[in-house]
Amino acid sequence: MTKVNVVVLAAGKGTRMYSSKPKVLHELGGKALLQHVVDTALSLDATSIHIVVGHGADKIRDNIHSPRTHFVTQEPQLGTGHAVQQALPGLEQDAVALVLYGDVPLIRRETLLALLQGVDQNSMGVLTARVPDPRGLGRILRNDNNEVVRIVEEKDADESQRSIDEINTGIMAIPVSRLTQWLPRLSANNAQKEYYLTDVVAMAVKDGCEIKTTHCDPVEASGINNRLQLSEIERYFQFNIARELMLAGVTLKDPARIDVRGNLTTGQDVEIDINNIFIGDVTLGNNVIIGPNCVITNSVIADGSVINANTVIEDSRVGRNCQIGPYARVRPGTELAEEVKLGNFVETKKARVARGSKINHLSYVGDTVMGENVNVGAGTITCNYDGVNKFLTEIGDDVFIGSNTALVAPVKVAARATIGAGSVITKEVMENQLAIARGRQSNIDGWKRPQKKQ
Ligand code: UD1
Ligand code: CA
Repeated sequence: MTKVNVVVLAAGKGTRMYSSKPKVLHELGGKALLQHVVDTALSLDATSIHIVVGHGADKIRDNIHSPRTHFVTQEPQLGTGHAVQQALPGLEQDAVALVLYGDVPLIRRETLLALLQGVDQNSMGVLTARVPDPRGLGRILRNDNNEVVRIVEEKDADESQRSIDEINTGIMAIPVSRLTQWLPRLSANNAQKEYYLTDVVAMAVKDGCEIKTTHCDPVEASGINNRLQLSEIERYFQFNIARELMLAGVTLKDPARIDVRGNLTTGQDVEIDINNIFIGDVTLGNNVIIGPNCVITNSVIADGSVINANTVIEDSRVGRNCQIGPYARVRPGTELAEEVKLGNFVETKKARVARGSKINHLSYVGDTVMGENVNVGAGTITCNYDGVNKFLTEIGDDVFIGSNTALVAPVKVAARATIGAGSVITKEVMENQLAIARGRQSNIDGWKRPQKKQ
């Protein structure tokens, strides 16, 4: 295939977002619009990617880090032709320039490959679409032989041209050597006083270059100008992911109520209830069930585990056949082995819990290594922080911890030890010992309650 240099136009202001953030940094599926475009360009094996920036240039540079990617500044912004001209010195003369828009994130690799197909030094490609409402867009003008002769912008078009429903998506493939000839000849002698990239089409025709058009689904080429369009594109994007999941064998209770902001990998017979959000890289093993309203970030849930309603899991690993929640908060560094149970209002952080242990209610377990088959009573807290440093709590196999125990770290509770309810444990407990650390109960006979003074 021909060598491809990508130029991404992203210098525009995005006024209608009413945002201090550059438009192309707003997110679709948890990823910046511009990053979607750059990732698609990388998937084409483009030799270089040149992003033309202007408004919010510094913020864009700070947020987009990808291989083979360069930034070019366009200041002031004098139109799409002027924008490409800024990138021209960095392009290779024997390459084809593929012009993309930073605010058109849904464009697919397959569509771009079709557009690039057959483009050589004597032709150029224009991606077009037929739309029910072409207002505001450039129209494709064809002659009686159906060959493209030029593109006319809405503001420069007459009545009959405006009735044309084949529009310019803005995405084009143009040989760099030709751009080098054509771009300096653009003029801003038009309704918007801008240097239009679209004017190179008429130049190409004049120079005997073939104009190859490729059609695409208009939604793929839709640009984002305001937050309403952003939300519409987000829903479209999410529905596509939901569709793929279902076709791959995942049960979704409602495909309209799942959001995937990253990569969700699923095994066989996974069931996902409503209102779940998956962020970053999440893997769900075979037969995993996710109850409603969970947020799962960068985590692995192994085969057969059930995550009950309203559970939040982040940067953690849940082993096989675990039962988590409802209302559990599994914080970073939690590693649960098989058959572990975390019940309601249990928070864990940097906790390694071995097979079969249960923390069923109202507990905080942080900076902890816990053995197998431990039973942690309600209200147990690992006091891992002295206000300055964090300390480890170590709990052996088959330990029984009574309710409302405070384990003041660093502390060890050895295998098969038992802790009486309400204890504050500050010293090591040895194997098979019972530790009770609480005030003794005293009962006073005939106690007289205080009386109200007359
Ligand atoms: C352009 C096309 C039009 C097409 C439409 C599709 C031209 C002259 N017109 O319209 O035929 O139907 O896109 O959406 O090319 N940009 C810059 N620098 C500039 C101007 C624009 O980087 O000086 C960037 C914008 O950030 C945006 C893209 O180019 O990502 C398109 O600009 P926009 O103003 O939205 O498109 P139009 O010029 O209206
Ligand atoms: Ca414009």
